[in-house]
Amino acid sequence: MTATATQETQGWPLGWVWNECERRSSCRVAISGEVPRPSMPRFRDPELSEEELCSLMGDFVVAAQRGDHKAQGWPDTAYGTTKIGVTVLSRIQARTVTQTRPNDGILLNACCPGWVRTDMAGPNAPKSPEEGAETPVYLALLPQGAKGPHGQLVWDKMVQEW
Ligand SMILES: NC(=O)c1ccc[n+]([C@@H]2O[C@H](COP(=O)([O-])OP(=O)(O)OC[C@H]3O[C@@H](n4cnc5c(N)ncnc54)[C@H](OP(=O)(O)O)[C@@H]3O)[C@@H](O)[C@H]2O)c1
Repeated sequence: MTATATQETQGWPLGWVWNECERRSSCRVAISGEVPRPSMPRFRDPELSEEELCSLMGDFVVAAQRGDHKAQGWPDTAYGTTKIGVTVLSRIQARTVTQTRPNDGILLNACCPGWVRTDMAGPNAPKSPEEGAETPVYLALLPQGAKGPHGQLVWDKMVQEW
């Protein structure tokens, strides 16, 4: 139940963002992803399709319900796994944008704000909300004509090796 609910909560808004993106001629999209590299190589397959990603995420839910997800190499949190899915989905969507609308100036990235003092992370997180907003705002305000970053995972305004 937790794995399913987490995936629905994190994933559902991306459909809305994607629809908005489709309606615009030029836009910047910064999706909140996660920095840790996924251990499963399939997530890093540059040709992975959205359908294959959904199937992989479904595999996690089934494994989590059975209780053997760790043995299969999945992270031990529904949140962390879902963030990997969100990050990979943003890469797939960026690839689609590159293929279907190469001249529309759309830059779509995943970013990690770091550990930020919000309701989620609590008062002991090292970054203030303002500091946490720096990378998403930087991505949202990439200037007209910028060619990148695009299809990347960005943390502290730097593209991360993934
Ligand atoms: N804080 C961190 O250290 C950190 C680190 C890495 C990534 N992130 C990511 O950054 C994003 C923002 O997190 P945050 O730290 O700002 O968290 P937050 O302060 O706990 O805020 C979460 C927001 O999500 C909304 N929300 C929760 N469940 C929802 C649902 N089922 N449907 C619709 N809205 C829902 C909440 O709405 P209500 O206020 O109405 O409840 C709230 O506005 C998240 O994607 C999080 O995973 C945060």
